[in-house]
Amino acid sequence: MFSRAEETAAYILSQTKFRPETSIILGSGLGDLAEYITEKEFIEYEKIPHFPVSTVSGHAGRLVFGKLKGVAVMAMQGRFHFYEGYSMQEVAYPVFVMKLTGIKKLIVSNAAGGINREFSPGTLMIIEDHINLFGTNPLIGRNDDRFGKRFPDMTEAYKKYLINIAAKCASELGIDYKKGVYAGLTGPCYESAAEIRYLETIGADAVGMSTVPEVIAANYLGLDVLGISCITNMATGISVTAHDHASVVSTAGSVSEKFCSWVSEIVSVI
Ligand code: HPA
Repeated sequence: MFSRAEETAAYILSQTKFRPETSIILGSGLGDLAEYITEKEFIEYEKIPHFPVSTVSGHAGRLVFGKLKGVAVMAMQGRFHFYEGYSMQEVAYPVFVMKLTGIKKLIVSNAAGGINREFSPGTLMIIEDHINLFGTNPLIGRNDDRFGKRFPDMTEAYKKYLINIAAKCASELGIDYKKGVYAGLTGPCYESAAEIRYLETIGADAVGMSTVPEVIAANYLGLDVLGISCITNMATGISVTAHDHASVVSTAGSVSEKFCSWVSEIVSVI
C-alpha cells in the first residue's frame, strides 16, 4: 500500500499550492467548515488516484485546501464509512495519504448519539478516548515499517495537549462543551436499547459509526489527533423517539456555526 499511497500523495500535492500540517475530517452535517476556508482549492475524490470510489450519491466527496484564520489546512468533505462496504484499510486510506503529504495533526469530527445523560442534542463533546467495537482494525495485515510499528501505542489516542487547547479556545469563545468517550460501531443500523445500556456500562458517553478507524491509523502514523463529536440525538432507549438521518444532519447543521468558529480558533493556535 505504501507505493500506492505515495502516488496518491504526489498527485494531491501536484494539485495544490498549499502544504498544510493540519487536516480536518468533517463529519455529517459539519461540512460548512469549508465555507470558513479562504483561497480554496478543491480536489474531487473521484479524480484522485487510488482513492476509494464513492458509493453514495449526493455525498460531497472532495478535499478542500486553503486557509483557516491564515493557517494552511486540508479538509476532507465527506469520509468513507465501513458500513458502505469499504474495508477498514480503505476507510483509513486518506489518513495514510495525509501522512505522506506532510500532515502532522488531525482533527476528526462526527455526528454521534448521546449516551451520557448530561448531554442533549446539540452538545459538542471533546473526545477523550474511544472504544473500538468494529470487531476489526485497519492495521490488520502485514505491517509496513515505513508507515509505523507493528504494535502501536494508544495511550493518548487523543492528545491531552490538544484537548487542553480545545477547552481553552471553547472558554474564550463562550462555547459550552463536554468531554467523553466515543464508542465506534459498524452501523448502519442504529443501536438497540439493550446495546446502549451495554455501551453505558462499559463507559461510553457517545456512540457513532465512524472516526475509530481513522484515529487508529493516525496514531499508528504518528499524527496528533483531536476529536470532536456533535451529539445530534440521544441514543436509543434514552431518547424515546425513533432516529432518522435527516434530523441527525439538521441538528449537526444547527450547531455548525459554533463548531466552525471553534475549530477555526483551534487551528489558529495549534
Ligand atoms: N448512533 C450511532 N451513530 C449515530 C447516532 C446514534 O445514535 N447519531 C448520529 N450518529
